[in-house]
Amino acid sequence: MDTSFWQRIHGGSTHFPIVLVLASVVFDFVAGRSRDEVLRRGLHVAGFGSAVVGMLGGVGAVIAGLIMTRGQMLGSGYEKTHHLFVWPAFASCLILVGWRLFRGGRIPQKGLGLYLAGMSLVAALMAGAGYSGGEMLLGAGTENVPSSLDGPTSTSEQRGSVAAGNQLFLKNCAHCHGADAHGDEGPDLHHLDWTDEQIATRIRNGKKGQMTAFAGKFSPQQIDDVVAYLRTLK
Ligand code: HEC
Repeated sequence: MDTSFWQRIHGGSTHFPIVLVLASVVFDFVAGRSRDEVLRRGLHVAGFGSAVVGMLGGVGAVIAGLIMTRGQMLGSGYEKTHHLFVWPAFASCLILVGWRLFRGGRIPQKGLGLYLAGMSLVAALMAGAGYSGGEMLLGAGTENVPSSLDGPTSTSEQRGSVAAGNQLFLKNCAHCHGADAHGDEGPDLHHLDWTDEQIATRIRNGKKGQMTAFAGKFSPQQIDDVVAYLRTLK
């Protein structure tokens, strides 16, 4: 099972907590205001059910996410922003829903306000996680990329996107190789006489004590993107 399989699981399961936690807050909130006993109970059951299924979706998303990053819990750049939302959201969701499970789904009337405030916070953090996750996928805007990089300059046999590769390079490689890739702590990357596969292997494995390994951080597509960008450096 490759990374893209887990990416799909992650992408799919991550919608459950985002939508269901919010739905659960609405159900429980309306229940709290309802005078009709039968309706109130029904709404709380719906609230409880969606909270539990949402939490389970969250567990699935986190497991798939950890497999994608090979256990890296923070990372850097957009991934770090994403994770700074994910972990507090996940922890508070586990605590709140766990507490409710422990009580057999019932929330004491006095605790309802606090519980709803907590769950609303979880929903907000999850929305933030979803938003930053989306930004990560999009490679976050292309405003810094010279437009000449994007168009017909990329040859048809190239698998990667030069613009996305340039973004990834600036975020992940520039602090060692220089923003223009003319070298800094790491060597100049112009005129490389390496094959695409050799470059991809170096990006995946790094070099012990000298260069970071990106295997757990970049998807195969992202590695292709970076290689495509390096190919434009003449
Ligand atoms: C922590 C600093 C650091 C980071 C981050 C880094 N590199 Fe490097 N890189 C180096 C160093 C140092 C070398 C030289 C190692 C050696 O002697 O082979 C190197 C070598 C290379 C080489 C081989 C060049 C040659 O002529 O030997 C390539 C290609 C390369 N890096 C690409 C990248 C790409 C692409 C990224 C970002 C995805 C990246 N590096 C991130 C430090 C870094």
